[in-house]
Amino acid sequence: MDLLVKGKKPYKVLFRKGSLAIFSDYFPEVKGKKAMIITDSGVPTSYIDELASSLVHPYIFTFEQGEKSKNIETYQKILHALADNGFTRDSYIITLGGGVVGDLGGFVASTYMRGISWINIPSTLLSEVDSSIGGKTAIDYEGYKNIVGAFYNPHAVLINVDLLKTLDVRQVKAGLVEAIKMAATFNKDFFEYFEKTPYEELDFQYVVYESLKMKQSIVEKDPEETHLRKSLNFGHTIGHALEKEGKGSLLHGEAVALGMLLVSEGEVHKRIKEVFLSYQIPIEAGFDEEIIFEDMKRDKKKNGEEISLVLCPRIGEFEIKDVPFITLKEILGRK
Ligand SMILES: NC(=O)c1ccc[n+]([C@@H]2O[C@H](COP(=O)([O-])OP(=O)(O)OC[C@H]3O[C@@H](n4cnc5c(N)ncnc54)[C@H](O)[C@@H]3O)[C@@H](O)[C@H]2O)c1
Repeated sequence: MDLLVKGKKPYKVLFRKGSLAIFSDYFPEVKGKKAMIITDSGVPTSYIDELASSLVHPYIFTFEQGEKSKNIETYQKILHALADNGFTRDSYIITLGGGVVGDLGGFVASTYMRGISWINIPSTLLSEVDSSIGGKTAIDYEGYKNIVGAFYNPHAVLINVDLLKTLDVRQVKAGLVEAIKMAATFNKDFFEYFEKTPYEELDFQYVVYESLKMKQSIVEKDPEETHLRKSLNFGHTIGHALEKEGKGSLLHGEAVALGMLLVSEGEVHKRIKEVFLSYQIPIEAGFDEEIIFEDMKRDKKKNGEEISLVLCPRIGEFEIKDVPFITLKEILGRK
């Protein structure tokens, strides 16, 4: 059930469960090479040890967990460690962690010596279903999220859903929102799977595989987000503003869930809400709509008085629409 993401530099996505100690059986090309494992302090050390045990020359770089580390200081420290330890163009970077590790480590890989090989092992559901493919790498800079980065595809991705067993349930559910988002806008059957399947019975390998198949078809057609790829932003435009306003109280997926509910109407809204309720994903958050509106006006007002939103007119379909800014006020008032 592996995938091959096509493009200028195609890369494979392997689905393998079990111990990371046999990592180099999947990637024999890495075995004798110098490899830096980039990870964070929240990733269980047993995974890091297993992965390191399968490499001949591992070097481990661990930074403090959390978005606050996705910055230029951590980036510089990793560059320093690479240069200081003689990493060259035929070395590898292996990222083991969530989207923060993947975004930051991928950005390092894209720039060190004008690009070295990078294998990504996402270990949160969000990073497995979403950020693991598509080649977006970035760090935050001067308060702006993901403002410095590059499109840089990995050499390969290893999906191991067993890694999710240690992940906090709240994080798992926040990742699930991204999968439900893709189902709602692209795949009616996949959405019905969520409608029918209780949380305890979810098959995460299936969830990740279906999500990545959809994301793959989109990023292959639009690798650098000129149009089609924007469709992945259902719930995100408002979600980002809520996440920012929440100052850390809402996980990204939770904010996106609220954004999806706000921009959907009628039967679609009802069905999405029922899925969120059945998985106990929060469906309301107290926020001041005036503050969110003003914030979005500052950030998003590009086309005169309009804002571009991804809508879901029917389950399994999306529409990208420029709506008047004043409509956004009504949408935020739906809370
Ligand atoms: N590049 C892309 O296309 C893309 C897409 C979506 C999001 N992102 C980025 O992803 C980031 C969010 O990623 P995230 O939600 O994975 O958060 P995260 O990377 O902060 O991980 C969440 C927490 O889980 C811990 N963790 C990771 N794996 C674990 C495991 N297996 N068991 C126990 N704990 C584990 C981490 O240490 C961290 O504390 C944001 O920076 C966002 O900008 C990137």
